[in-house]
Amino acid sequence: MKKLDLRAGYDVYIDNSFNVCLLLDKRKKYLYVIDEMVDALYSRYISGEKVIVGPGEKAKDMSTILRIYDACIEKELDRGDFIIAVGGGSTGDAAGFAASTFKRGIGFINIPTTLLAMIDSSIGGKTAIDYKGIKNQVGTFYDPFIVYMDTEFLKTLPTSEIKSSMGEVIKYAVLSRSLYEWLDNNLNDVLSMDYEVIKDMIEKCIKIKVDIVNQDKTDRGIRTHLNLGHTIGHALETHYDISHGTAVAAGIYYESLVSYRLGILQSKKLHCIIELIDRCGLKAQYHLDKELVSLMSHDKKNVGGKIGLILPEDIGRVRKVLMDEKDLYEILKVPAI
Ligand SMILES: NC(=O)c1ccc[n+]([C@@H]2O[C@H](COP(=O)([O-])OP(=O)(O)OC[C@H]3O[C@@H](n4cnc5c(N)ncnc54)[C@H](O)[C@@H]3O)[C@@H](O)[C@H]2O)c1
Repeated sequence: MKKLDLRAGYDVYIDNSFNVCLLLDKRKKYLYVIDEMVDALYSRYISGEKVIVGPGEKAKDMSTILRIYDACIEKELDRGDFIIAVGGGSTGDAAGFAASTFKRGIGFINIPTTLLAMIDSSIGGKTAIDYKGIKNQVGTFYDPFIVYMDTEFLKTLPTSEIKSSMGEVIKYAVLSRSLYEWLDNNLNDVLSMDYEVIKDMIEKCIKIKVDIVNQDKTDRGIRTHLNLGHTIGHALETHYDISHGTAVAAGIYYESLVSYRLGILQSKKLHCIIELIDRCGLKAQYHLDKELVSLMSHDKKNVGGKIGLILPEDIGRVRKVLMDEKDLYEILKVPAI
C-alpha cells in the first residue's frame, strides 16, 4: 500500500490487495454504502453492515440518502463513526452527501472502484445528488477522512466504463500540457490496461486536481476550470442518458469547437484535442438541438442568465466565457467538424 504525497488535507492510498481494513480503527463503527454491481462482485471482501445503492447514477437520489440515514440511526452511528463508500463516482457522491449531513457530519471514507472515481470524483470533497432531473442540484463540500484506491477493482470494470473514465483524463490533459504530452506517449499502455502505467496516470491526475482545489476549495475561481467539458457534457448526459465520462469527452469536443469558432483556439490545437478523444474510442458528436442547449441554463457556472463555459485557449490553458443561450445555439447548430 502506498500513501500518496499530496497536500489534500486527508490521506490518499493506492494499493492492489484489498487491504483497507488495515486502516480502520476497530473501536469505531462503520457503515458501508456500496454500489449494487460492486457488491455482487466483491461482497466476500466486505464484512459489516451495508446499504446497497445504485447501480451507478441511480444512487444519486434523495431516496438513497433517506435509506442511508435510516441505517445510520439503526446502527446508532455518532459523529466519530464512519460511512464508507465503495463504488464509482455516483456512490461516492451520494454516500459523501449522506455523511456530510447526518448529525451535521460524520466520518467519511471513500473507496473508489471505477477509474473515473479514482482519477477525479473521490478527490476534492464535492458531494451531490440529482434533483428533478438536474444533475448535482443538491450537494455539499465535505472532505473524506481517507481515500483508498485499489486498482484490483479495475479488473472487473467493463471496457465501456474504462473508456468513459478517459473523458475526465482528457479534461486533465487539456488543462495540463505536461499531462497531455505524457498521455500522448502512454495512451496505448493505458488502454491495454498496464496497471503500473494506470497507477502513474491516477497519481498525475489527482495531483493536478489537488493543486487546483487547494487554491479554490469552494469552486468560485480557478476550480471552475475543472468544469471543462461539463457545461455541454452535463446537458448531453441528461438528454441522452449516457455515462458521465462519455458526456464529458463530447462536452470537451463541443466546447473546443465553440472556442475555435470564437477565434480563441487554433485549428491545430482543436485537432489535437479531437485526436485524443478519438484515440480513446469515445464518441464526440451528438445531435444538439435547442432543448439540449436550454438544459445548460441550470449550470452552476451561469451568471446573469448567461451560460458559463470553460473554453480551451491552448493545450494547458483555459478561460471562462459567458454566452447567451441563443448565441451558443447559433454556434453549435453549424455542422460539426
Ligand atoms: N464529486 C466529484 O467531484 C465528481 C467528479 C466527477 C464525476 N462525479 C460524478 O461521478 C459519477 C460518475 O462516476 P463513475 O463514472 O465512477 O460511474 P458510476 O459510479 O455511475 O458507475 C458506473 C458503473 O460502473 C459499475 N461499477 C463500479 N465499479 C465497478 C467495478 N469495479 N467493476 C464492475 N463494475 C463497476 C457501476 O455499477 C455502474 O454501473 C457521476 O454522477 C458524476 O456526476 C463527481
